[in-house]
Order: sequence, then C-alpha cells, then structure tokens
Amino acid sequence: MSIPKEKIEEVRERASIVQVINEYVPLTKRGHNHVGLCPFHSEKTPSFTVNEEKKIFYCFGCNATGNVITFLMKKDGLAFPEAVRALASRYGIAINESKREAPDDREQIYAALKAASAYFTGVLRASAGDPAKEYLKARGMTGELAKRFHIGYATDKWDGLFNFLKKNGIGAEAACKAGLLVKKDKGPGYYDRFRNRVIFPITDVRGRIIGFGGRALDEKSLPKYLNSPESPVFKKGETLFGLYQAKEAVSKEGYVLVVEGYFDLVALHTHGFLNSVATMGTALTTDHIRTLKGYTSSIYALFDSDEAGKKAALRGLNLFLNEDISCRAVLLNQGKDPDEFLKLAGPDALREAIVDAPTLMEFYLASLRSKLNMTAPEGKKKYFEDALSYLSKIGNLAERGHYATIVASTLGIGVESVYDAIKGVSGGGGLVVKRGGFQARNLPELTLLRVIMKHPELLSPEVEAAFEAFTDEEIKAAAKAVSSLCRDGAAISGPALLERLEGEALKGRVADLLFRDSDGFVEEPARMIEDSLNRIQSRGKVKASTQDMIKLLEQMGKSDIAVELKKRIEVGPSGKRH
Ligand code: UTP
Ligand code: MN
Repeated sequence: MSIPKEKIEEVRERASIVQVINEYVPLTKRGHNHVGLCPFHSEKTPSFTVNEEKKIFYCFGCNATGNVITFLMKKDGLAFPEAVRALASRYGIAINESKREAPDDREQIYAALKAASAYFTGVLRASAGDPAKEYLKARGMTGELAKRFHIGYATDKWDGLFNFLKKNGIGAEAACKAGLLVKKDKGPGYYDRFRNRVIFPITDVRGRIIGFGGRALDEKSLPKYLNSPESPVFKKGETLFGLYQAKEAVSKEGYVLVVEGYFDLVALHTHGFLNSVATMGTALTTDHIRTLKGYTSSIYALFDSDEAGKKAALRGLNLFLNEDISCRAVLLNQGKDPDEFLKLAGPDALREAIVDAPTLMEFYLASLRSKLNMTAPEGKKKYFEDALSYLSKIGNLAERGHYATIVASTLGIGVESVYDAIKGVSGGGGLVVKRGGFQARNLPELTLLRVIMKHPELLSPEVEAAFEAFTDEEIKAAAKAVSSLCRDGAAISGPALLERLEGEALKGRVADLLFRDSDGFVEEPARMIEDSLNRIQSRGKVKASTQDMIKLLEQMGKSDIAVELKKRIEVGPSGKRH
C-alpha cells in the first residue's frame, strides 16, 4: 500500500490502544492491564485484556488478539490502510502519500455507490419516479421512511446511471466493481444493472453504502429482488439490512428483531419497532450473530408459523447454542411474512407474540415432543436422546438446568437422571473450557520461549541452537520470531512479535504468553533457562545414543528390537508425534 512503513509504525506507537478500544468496550484497569467484556464473543465475566505498554489486546476466552489497527479492522470492518488513516487523523499524524498513486480500490467503490444512491433518490423524487412512488404508497411506505432508508428508483433506461456517473467523474471500472454497471457481453461498454426497480441502499454499521437491493415493480419481472453482487465492500452473509438505522434502538430496547425481507423491515419500522434488522433473504449466519453481539445478547427472530417457518427456526438452533446468545422464535400465526402479519393483525399482536416467544431450545423441545408418540417407550427414548444431544452443548449450568427440568417433567423422570445422562453424553459433563494458550505442550521448550520473551538479553547461541532443536512446530515458530526480532535489534513488543507469526491460532497462543508472564517469574530466569536447556539437550543425547544402539542391534541381526526402539524415539516426550 501507499502508506509509508514508518508512518504505520508511528500510528501504532502513538495511538493509545486503551483509549481507542475503550470507545467500543468499556474497560476497567486491573493491574498492568485493562479488562472488559470481549467484543468478539459473548461472555459475562471480562476476559478481554488490553495492555498499553505491550500495545496489544488479547481475549483469554476466545483467543482473539491483535493491535490497535487490527482491532479497528475487525470491529469497524475497515481495510488495513483505512484503519491506519483513521488513527493517523485522530492522532494528528500526517501521512504524505504520493499524489500520483490512485486512491484505494475500496475508496473508489464507496464513492461510486454513494453517487449512485444520490442518482436513485433523485430519480424517485423526480416525475420519472411516479410509478415507484405509487408502488411504495400502495405498500404502505411513508415519505418519512423512504427518507430514513434513502429509498430510490431506477427507471427502465439502460444507461441512466451510466451517464450520471460519467458526468460526475466516476470511472466505469470502479462502478463495475461496485456492482452498479455490467460489462456488455459483446463489444465494449457497460449498462446499468438496476433497471425498473425500487432501490434499497444497503449500508454498513457506519452508514456507508455498500450495495443495493432492487424490488421489481410488478410481480412478473424476475428476479423479484435483484441485489448487488458481492464486492470488496459488500459481503451478504455478514450484512444486516437496517442495522445502521436500528443500532441505537437495539441498545435501548435490549434486544433485536430479525426478519428476512426488505419490506418486512420497513413494516416493522412503520409500526414503531425500530430495533429491527433484516438478513436479506438468507438464514441467519454465524457472522450475522457475531455482528449483532456487538449490540445485544438477545435476538428475537420472526418466523412464519407454517412448516417452512418452523423448519427455518430449528435450523438456527445449533448456531445459537454454539454462540452462547439468547435467541427466541417469534411465531406469527397470520399472513405469510411479518409485513403481512402487521397489516392483518397489527402491532399489538406482534408485541404479544414477542412476549410469548419461546427460546429456540424450548421451541425445539416442544416440536420434538409434538412430533413423537410420547406414550410409547420408543418415542420417549428418541425424545430423550435428541434432547440430550442439544442439552449437553449448553455451557451455562443455570440455563442447562432450566431445560433439564423441562425434559425431566416431560418424561416424568427425576431431573438428576437427566444430569447423569448429560454427563454420559459430554464425557464428564463439565464445561468445556476453551483455552487459547500453549497447553500441555512440550514443557522445557515452552519454558525457554517464555523466559526469552521476557528476558531477551538472555538469548545466547546455546539457546538459539536449542530453538533449532525444538520439536513442537508452533513453539519453534514463535521462538524463531523472537530470536529474529532480537537479531534485528528490535525490542520484543507484542505487535512486532505477532506480526512475524502466521496463523490466528499461533498468534493467540503467543499473546496468551505475553499476558500470562507480564508479572515475571517466581524462579530466577537464568536458572529456568539452564534447566530447560539441560532437559532439551539431554533429550537429544538420549536420542543420539538410542540411534547408535539401533545401528548396533541391526548389525547384530536383532532387527525386531531395533524396529521397536525406532518407534519409541519417534514419539516425543509429550507423546506428540514430530
Ligand atoms: P420473499 O420472497 O419472502 O419476498 O423474500 P418478500 O420480502 O416478502 O418481498 P415482497 O414483500 O414480495 O416485496 C424475502 C427476502 O429475500 C430476498 C429479499 O431480501 C427479500 O426481501 N430475496 C427474495 C432476494 O434477494 N431475491 C429474490 O428474488 C427474492
Ligand atoms: Mn413480503
């Protein structure tokens, strides 16, 4: 990219990671660190840790890690240069990029999308937009809502937008990348993708337009909705239509309503349910859920009460169990979608349905029960088995207890027997704690790495030779990064070290070490090094002498014993193959 390396360094040095993150996640000081609730997974006790001196963040719960720049990239969906520029301008760091270089691809795409939106809303307002105005009015869209969502219109011309963009200095190539223009099959040139459609601009959480959805004015035109193709700035599976408009109401209400359709969303807003978003036709994805978690831990998904709606509700169950977030299924018993439901039954009926909404797990247990013959032992057995497979995935004990009680009373058995059975399913029944660090790894190797990270001045040729002999590939990669930093004369700083490592998992493990050892060691570092070196070296000796022995045995014709010995030295001290 065109930002000079020194500038990136400067931004990372001067930006306060605590100050920046604190604006997204309230942090409190604890020792050398600041801690808060992790924005990347859902939790109730803070394990998200930020350290100003190390200039990195790390979550002991989900292993997420990075520096101030990667935090902004993850949280705001920025590209690397965008995040650097945002921080640079905030901290008054001037970045002189050479003028001749073209601005970033993404910037051009955003500019094209913004211009296109101005065009579409202009057309809707003009007399050319009359058919669309009529259509929208017939569907109950008020002028106020059309404004709030920047609704527009594309006429049936093939070059309306094309000409507008040209006049406004937007390159056809960028507009093509943005999905606005389509390259002609034959010959040179482009044509408008969106024609004769009501246009819904799709924005990211910051309100920047990232794509469009276009609704055909009549029911004969196919497809009914035409959406922007995916682009560098538009990922359908991650995007929630209306989140930008809804986010404040979501925080205020404490929950979010999720629907699938554009007009369903508009109808919810019309009736005052401002805390609503739409998935644009797809089922909720894990990415959607992670996005929503930034605003609430309570999702109410609206489903039609027909069979398809029920199936859709159940499909999401696994997703939610794994994400540790509360999701309720709002079942609508009239109309084919929330838009029709509101027209037929009104907002009070929706409010009632929200109050009555079962959790997805309750809903699942109820539909399982209604599907089976619960008076027969086979039915009870099946119910028990299926219910257990989900129950065992619920980590929270109180929550698990709630469902265990339902299962027990449905079957007329004691709740204790349900707990016993869960233990059988999950192998111990204990909560599976995800640990991010290097656990149960090769101990002397890990110790050596930890000490050198904390005391790089103790790095010696002997230690480097030991690094070379490491058998745990990940610890070895981390050790090499540490020694290369030392060799370059750089300090062992969190960001610099993480930058030299590949793979999220490894980065997380190293960040875990950085935080774990921040208070130093109980033992004397030099002693720890000596001890570890001894153990690593003697391991080499054992191996070398065993190899001599194998050779000897083979010469003596005792190849069966030699083979057995070979097998044994192939297995490392931690039991791991290497
Ligand atoms: P539906 O087919 O349920 O339509 O699609 P709808 O929302 O009720 O549309 P109206 O009320 O007839 O206008 C639900 C959602 O799926 C996506 C759109 O986001 C739509 O709102 N969809 C549907 C598409 O992207 N393309 C299509 O061709 C159809
Ligand atoms: Mn509809």
